[in-house]
Amino acid sequence: MATYEHPYPSPELSAAHPFVVHAHEPVDDNTMRDRALSFHALMDGRRSVRMFDDRPVPRELIETAICTASTAPSGAHMQPWTFVAISAPNVKQQIREAAEEEERTNYLDNRMNEEWQAALAPLGTDHHKEFLEVAPWLVVLFEQRFGENDDGSKKTHYYVKESVGIAAGMFVTALHQMGLATLPHTPSPMRFLQRVLDRPETERPFVLFPVGHPLPGVQVPDLARKPLDEVAVFL
Ligand SMILES: Cc1cc2nc3c(=O)[nH]c(=O)nc-3n(C[C@H](O)[C@H](O)[C@H](O)COP(=O)(O)O)c2cc1C
Repeated sequence: MATYEHPYPSPELSAAHPFVVHAHEPVDDNTMRDRALSFHALMDGRRSVRMFDDRPVPRELIETAICTASTAPSGAHMQPWTFVAISAPNVKQQIREAAEEEERTNYLDNRMNEEWQAALAPLGTDHHKEFLEVAPWLVVLFEQRFGENDDGSKKTHYYVKESVGIAAGMFVTALHQMGLATLPHTPSPMRFLQRVLDRPETERPFVLFPVGHPLPGVQVPDLARKPLDEVAVFL
């Protein structure tokens, strides 16, 4: 077992702030290998879908996925995120209408440059966002640019984008693990979500997730993922 010259927490630190022993079950290498391979196989089957079934999804499942996402690490443990979960048809309709308006400008009035359009060509996305009304849930993830102290003063949040990005990834993972599908959707610009959902000025929309069961037989682009040697360097 490694020994440390400067143990954490120091006696001064643990006198000033509460600490607990981390509950951790040791796992042997073979078990870890099995777990790692089966989790990778599970996650390799995740795909973004753009046609959802209208089959309802219990609210409890969305709540649990948000709780899982909220276990994400965050800068100084500020958890600078708000998940707004929408099943109300009238709100979904407003979001679809506003998103399609922005996307019409992107796709039909050339707000996206040629390089962007070329990158999207294999995905075949366009300004139609029907799934925003068909999916039983829309979950909009907001980043909290800063928070509020008990006395109403401004509370600084650290590494907001990094933290919210990790929480977003964990949300996607949680949904896939339970058998639901989603699509990270960024109708650009997304500021209309702040108005439609009545969120405070301190928040910015980060990504919108339609959530539900994939439409049976839905097709997805035939994409390949980069091999390990293109995404990793070991020293
Ligand atoms: C930050 C982010 C924004 C995205 N925005 C959109 C979007 O607005 N519309 C869309 O159809 N797909 C969007 N996607 C989905 C990507 O196109 C998709 O993840 C990618 O093609 C890989 O496919 P896969 O998710 O099935 O592996 C977005 C993904 C991310 C991570």
